[in-house]
Amino acid sequence: MDPLAFIRRHRGYSTTTILVCLAGVVVGATFIACSAERNFQDTQDGSPSQAGHSVYVELKCGRCHGEVLEGTRAAPPLSKLASHWDQVSLTDYILDPDKVRAKSQRLVLLSEPYAVGMAAIRTLEDQELDSLVGFLLTPNEVD
Ligand code: HEC
Repeated sequence: MDPLAFIRRHRGYSTTTILVCLAGVVVGATFIACSAERNFQDTQDGSPSQAGHSVYVELKCGRCHGEVLEGTRAAPPLSKLASHWDQVSLTDYILDPDKVRAKSQRLVLLSEPYAVGMAAIRTLEDQELDSLVGFLLTPNEVD
């Protein structure tokens, strides 16, 4: 039996209602597919630091360090990081800030004005961590 006729008979919906619903589902699915595609491109078309920026946004680092790394009342700006860190040392710091801070007078002083120090981030895949660190070491607007 024709599926439309079946639904109409058993549920009392008109053909128009059923077609409008089906159209809604198709438009919705297309929209979702398109936005997924756009997100994918966001992290794929630019430099590796573009992917690192996505990780920065996802982990909400900006809540303390500011959307464009400009700093807030909760944390310092993330500027000129490349003059203090390299890929390896900054990775170590993000994984265990307390340990690295304990050996660095600069970081102790840097953390003093803030109520809460930098928290360890241990949930990232290696690749995400690499791109985050790459992004942080790339010169930015506040350098
Ligand atoms: C709760 C607020 C807070 C959040 C969230 C936070 N930080 Fe921090 N961060 C700090 C504070 C405070 C410091 C100052 C130094 C310290 O505490 O070790 C700091 C220091 C840093 C430094 C060292 C800056 C320098 O000049 O060497 C880096 C790099 C950094 N944070 C990156 C990040 C990244 C990446 C994220 C997200 C994964 C993040 N932070 C999330 C508070 C925060």
